[in-house]
Amino acid sequence: MTAALKFTVLLLTLVCGRGQLFNDIDYFDEEVKPAVLDSKYGSLWPLPQKVKISEVSFKLTSASFKIVDAKDSSAGPSCSLLKDAYRRYYEHMFGIAKRQQLSKSRRTGPSELTELQVWITSPDSECDGYPSVTSDESYELVVDQPYAVLKAPKVWGALHGLETFSQLVYEDEYGAKSINTTQISDFPRFAHRGILLDTSRHYLPIKVILANLETMAMNKINVFHWHIVDDQSFPYLSRTFPQLSQQGAYHPYTHVYTPADVKMVIEFARLRGIRVIPEFDTPGHTQSWGKGQKDLLTPCYSGSEPSGTFGPVNPILNTTYDFMSQFFKEISTVFPDAYMHLGGDEVDFSCWKSNPDIQKFMAQHGFGDDYSKLESYYIQKLLNIVSSTSKGYMIWQEVFDNGVKLKPDTIIHVWKGNQEQYQSEMAKVTSSGYQTLLSTPWYLNRISYGQDWRGHYKADPQDFQGTEEQKKLVVGGEACLWGEFVDATNLTPRLWPRASAVAERLWSAKEVTDVNDAFSRLSVHRCRLVERGIPAEPLFSSFCPREYKGV
Ligand SMILES: *[C@@H]1O[C@H](CO)[C@@H](O)[C@H](O)[C@H]1NC(C)=O
Ligand SMILES: *[C@@H]1O[C@H](CO)[C@@H](O)[C@H](O)[C@H]1NC(C)=O
Repeated sequence: MTAALKFTVLLLTLVCGRGQLFNDIDYFDEEVKPAVLDSKYGSLWPLPQKVKISEVSFKLTSASFKIVDAKDSSAGPSCSLLKDAYRRYYEHMFGIAKRQQLSKSRRTGPSELTELQVWITSPDSECDGYPSVTSDESYELVVDQPYAVLKAPKVWGALHGLETFSQLVYEDEYGAKSINTTQISDFPRFAHRGILLDTSRHYLPIKVILANLETMAMNKINVFHWHIVDDQSFPYLSRTFPQLSQQGAYHPYTHVYTPADVKMVIEFARLRGIRVIPEFDTPGHTQSWGKGQKDLLTPCYSGSEPSGTFGPVNPILNTTYDFMSQFFKEISTVFPDAYMHLGGDEVDFSCWKSNPDIQKFMAQHGFGDDYSKLESYYIQKLLNIVSSTSKGYMIWQEVFDNGVKLKPDTIIHVWKGNQEQYQSEMAKVTSSGYQTLLSTPWYLNRISYGQDWRGHYKADPQDFQGTEEQKKLVVGGEACLWGEFVDATNLTPRLWPRASAVAERLWSAKEVTDVNDAFSRLSVHRCRLVERGIPAEPLFSSFCPREYKGV
């Protein structure tokens, strides 16, 4: 909408009253409400499954408050994942370097909370492991005297519980840190709660990726879907095929992810309970691969002559599969997660159609004119290659739509269509017995004027016609931020707090749908992100007690 049109809308709204005329525009909604109505859940985000907050409150001071291992915890002093998290959350609650002010002689009053004990209850804390789709992320938190207790079977639940604890801390009217007596019992509704970032359309510096992993943890997002390469550039530095990024990255030294970079991202994510799932999309979306790997892409023809341009991966050459075997063998060792995302979306058939060798191959294999059969032929071979690395795979919905034979544990990623279409796709995928993941309503790269997070908040991945068994096959969803118009300058404010809406949809109970209560909590949550140094954009006219100061 142009500025002039917006102004007209505003005038008409003032003259005609709101609503009727432009009822698809909801950005005036807050005009009729106080800026922030207090939620009885304070600023918890995403809302835990069970919460009881009382009006009895304690003070916390940076000088005497400690986060410690419970005596019987299975994760002892050697668990650096927890030590790291204790330090992080202490800083989130009190700011950096306050610890130095610790004075030994200070006496603590009865209305002061001095300790949070973290108790990992299962014999195997998984402290040194990687999170997975089956990880236990549950926790229980009791804030009371003489100390608060955070109980979790595994470290993954403890990480979430620490975030929740930090969200319970608020400042009273005199600026003193306070926390109310609280009981929380919590676990995620869906196991897969992801965010896709695209490092091909624009290169994202490691620092930006890490800052967003940090923010994901604050929203209990547990999957970083790394759409690492695409047509535009190939920033992944492969040890086996270094020429891929040498030729295919925007710049061979400054715009690449080295093995050390990738390792750092994976470890940083692990320490926050986040899985890193890389996507190497083929056979389409591969223009940048062709620059460093001769004969990988299909030569397109114009009439009877090669036109000098290239199409998708060439599916008729044995060398293609030799290359893919070696390449994915490397990927399977570099990325520890049990799943890889293999893409498979938007394959353009026009180049394949133009190529006489491909036409001959089609005839030999009895594919007729059906190029989706050729695509399936390629994907089938690719899936066999990846299966032999003993990884599971996720694929975009087209691969399923084209009837490719898939392993039973394959996750079909739904991204296309309008609401009716994606719901019927979810029904189809699950009635075939496959697990599925929803992204269609959560393409956060699409922006518009107003509070579009409300629409994101309303979408529910289990809203489709199907049995209870089918609904159970929904593993979760992902918010996608495709990179055509996004780089380090605008990524974080574009993503947050809009992705937070998706985070609550995927974590909290299905019944948590009160958008006014959500607005109240999310407004404060957003200010909390700002206070933690994250430039999360505002939801609407408002202020934060401590505004963003820039970097
Ligand atoms: C916490 O307790 C205070 C009184 O000490 C009360 O005003 C406030 O509403 C409580 N917060 C929540 C979220 O219940
Ligand atoms: C490709 O591999 C197949 C099966 O291993 C073999 O039959 C065929 O001769 C090979 N083609 C070429 C051109 O090497």
